[in-house]
Amino acid sequence: MTNPSDSSSFKERLRQAWDASQFVSLTLSVPEAAESDLRKIKVRPVLLKRGWAFSIVRCRRTQELTTNLPPDGAVEWISREFSAGWREAHLFTLGADFKFRRASGCVVKERKSRPTFTQAPDSSHDKEQPLRSAFGSEPFLRRLGVTNPEGQPRPGMAGKLRQIVRFVELLGHLMDAWRTDAEKPLQVADMGAGKGYLTFAMARAFEMRGWDVDIVGVEAREELVEAGNALAKELGFARLRFVHGKIGEWTPANGLDVLVALHACDTATDDALFHGIKAGAALVLTSPCCHKEVRAQLAAPEFLSGILKHGILQERQAEIITDGIRALALEGCGYDARVFEFVDPEHSGKNLMLAAMRKKKNAQLISFPSDELKIVMREFGISRQRLVELLEKTAS
Ligand SMILES: C[S@@+](CC[C@H](N)C(=O)[O-])C[C@H]1O[C@@H](n2cnc3c(N)ncnc32)[C@H](O)[C@@H]1O
Repeated sequence: MTNPSDSSSFKERLRQAWDASQFVSLTLSVPEAAESDLRKIKVRPVLLKRGWAFSIVRCRRTQELTTNLPPDGAVEWISREFSAGWREAHLFTLGADFKFRRASGCVVKERKSRPTFTQAPDSSHDKEQPLRSAFGSEPFLRRLGVTNPEGQPRPGMAGKLRQIVRFVELLGHLMDAWRTDAEKPLQVADMGAGKGYLTFAMARAFEMRGWDVDIVGVEAREELVEAGNALAKELGFARLRFVHGKIGEWTPANGLDVLVALHACDTATDDALFHGIKAGAALVLTSPCCHKEVRAQLAAPEFLSGILKHGILQERQAEIITDGIRALALEGCGYDARVFEFVDPEHSGKNLMLAAMRKKKNAQLISFPSDELKIVMREFGISRQRLVELLEKTAS
């Protein structure tokens, strides 16, 4: 459908996509000045040391020039640029694609279509060799039953392998932003480590990049801890160890820079998030699992009852509300929180990533619980949510 409007609709769409972490990329094309040497402007998100920014590439006939701008300035700059000299803009977001066409004067026609991209874009500063091929036939993957001796995934393990590799790649990109500032070895914890798929994968990936990182896998099941430590010793993973215990009971001896939790069951994700916030971790990365705590309490507003009578929609609602509350709680504790799909839903239903970067040192509990968070809990009849409860106890 095409809607006529003015350039402000373009600016608003761009700002909304960015604020909702839905922005994938943007291209300005068809310059108004026919003789212009500038042919296109390409924009994508990039993660820098100072945080998320827009990477803007000005494509000339013989040369490309890249500038990185902070979000507020960038939205203004791109909108002005579109109004001043370009006929077309293609905005790709995770929710929809938008094509804007400037006709005469200020009139801008907008066409909305299905999204081309449904996964978060690559925000890395530099391209690197895909981890999957770098891992090749890594012994730890074979010994954990993920791959066969030829380095191919075992039956039923292709999705797991894809998930591990994608998680570690994302983590690497996020850590790239500030790792170089580190004066001492970085401390990483994997909460609810299980058999250690992710823990071993992180350790190997960091080692391949020559990074100075210590990793601890915290796990409640003693037999998995013993097996993990034995394998780490046998394969020479000197910077990796597993400890037996509950997430909330483990205290990092040397502080904590990065906390990850992949599919920690139900409220174990909340325990992990709380631990990360309490320890002042700079980066917290979780892929939540089941959402039983909130689902049992959900009393949706009356007008949604016709929709939520369907069990599967109620389950999805519980996921959205739980992870939304977690993201709001993290924001209230001084983190920049983002929620996105990190692997194609075709490969795994458990593909949601909740990633949070601390904005400032010692910025904990700055506005917790926010009014927004209180309203969501009240409107959906939620009296208990583990992360909120733990943070409230700390705040009082
Ligand atoms: C679904 S498995 C995921 C394992 C691993 N993170 C992965 O993705 O391959 C969840 C693991 O978390 C552990 N776990 C659950 N709650 C825990 C808690 N409160 N403290 C420590 N470990 C916990 C379980 O024993 C189990 O091994």
